[in-house]
Amino acid sequence: MKKILVTGSLGQIGTELVTKMRGIYGSDNVIATDIRDNGSTVVKEGPFEILDVTDASKMHELAKKYKVDTIVHLAALLSATAEKNPLLAWNLNMGGLVNALETARELNCQFFTPSSIGAFGPSTPKDQTPQDTIQRPTTMYGVNKVSGELLCDYYFYKFGVDTRGVRFPGLISYVAQPGGGTTDYAVEIYYEAIKSGRYTSYIGEGTKMDMMYMPDALNAIIQLMEADSAKLVHRNAFNITAMSFAPEEIAAEIKKHIPQFEMSYNVDPARQAIADSWPNSIDPTAAKEEWGFKADYDLGKMTVDMLDKLKAKLK
Ligand code: SER
Repeated sequence: MKKILVTGSLGQIGTELVTKMRGIYGSDNVIATDIRDNGSTVVKEGPFEILDVTDASKMHELAKKYKVDTIVHLAALLSATAEKNPLLAWNLNMGGLVNALETARELNCQFFTPSSIGAFGPSTPKDQTPQDTIQRPTTMYGVNKVSGELLCDYYFYKFGVDTRGVRFPGLISYVAQPGGGTTDYAVEIYYEAIKSGRYTSYIGEGTKMDMMYMPDALNAIIQLMEADSAKLVHRNAFNITAMSFAPEEIAAEIKKHIPQFEMSYNVDPARQAIADSWPNSIDPTAAKEEWGFKADYDLGKMTVDMLDKLKAKLK
């Protein structure tokens, strides 16, 4: 049986991942941690501890106390926030990752951490971006993600830590909202479509980015962690994606269900510049071949579910 420590448990991914893993592995076997306590079900329905991931000794102490054999490290600043405070991002994103990897090394734990489409940059091929390609990102978030990918590879080669990871695209979900990302518009648009019937996009028309619905992202994490290690050639930083669209395409999809929905634009130069440096679409072939990655939700199917779930939530 797995005993899993999750950092950043109250974030967009953690909130749903902890609940899903508690259902699979048992509530007591998933130890949720975060820098704050928000009184949510993650906090109430199983072990929860306050943890600042830059505190190496507390992380080690908690992993030891609960005798964990797996660490899922999610705590991080996203791209737009990182760009506003690059040094804080370096300290939190890299400091947290090194502490989590060291804990995994010392206690012999399996390890997962996400990379991102943010690990690519303007010189990366833009369409069907290959698994192995040029990575010269121009954001601090991207610098952190590439460094993290390399560090995870290093901990495997040097110390034999069973590190695994994916490059997530923008993640769309209705339980916990993302904070400080460039792709957040694709979540906000659904909330605003229901609340006010209109949305002003900070990302400009024609800007395509990869996206994925949260159920596919959660399945990908669990599937990769359960995959046969012998079959993994890449281990870390697998390209995965479910769809690629520009703001006008998601707006058109929403309009099919809410015909009066109106979209306008007020482009934020900072987040637009980040989006422009990322791929239009990435190629997930390696993930499919090495561990059977498959996404169930496309833009149409996701939109039906998002609108359904949010209508109930915002009632
Ligand atoms: N969704 C993330 C962001 O926009 C990408 O990894 O920062």
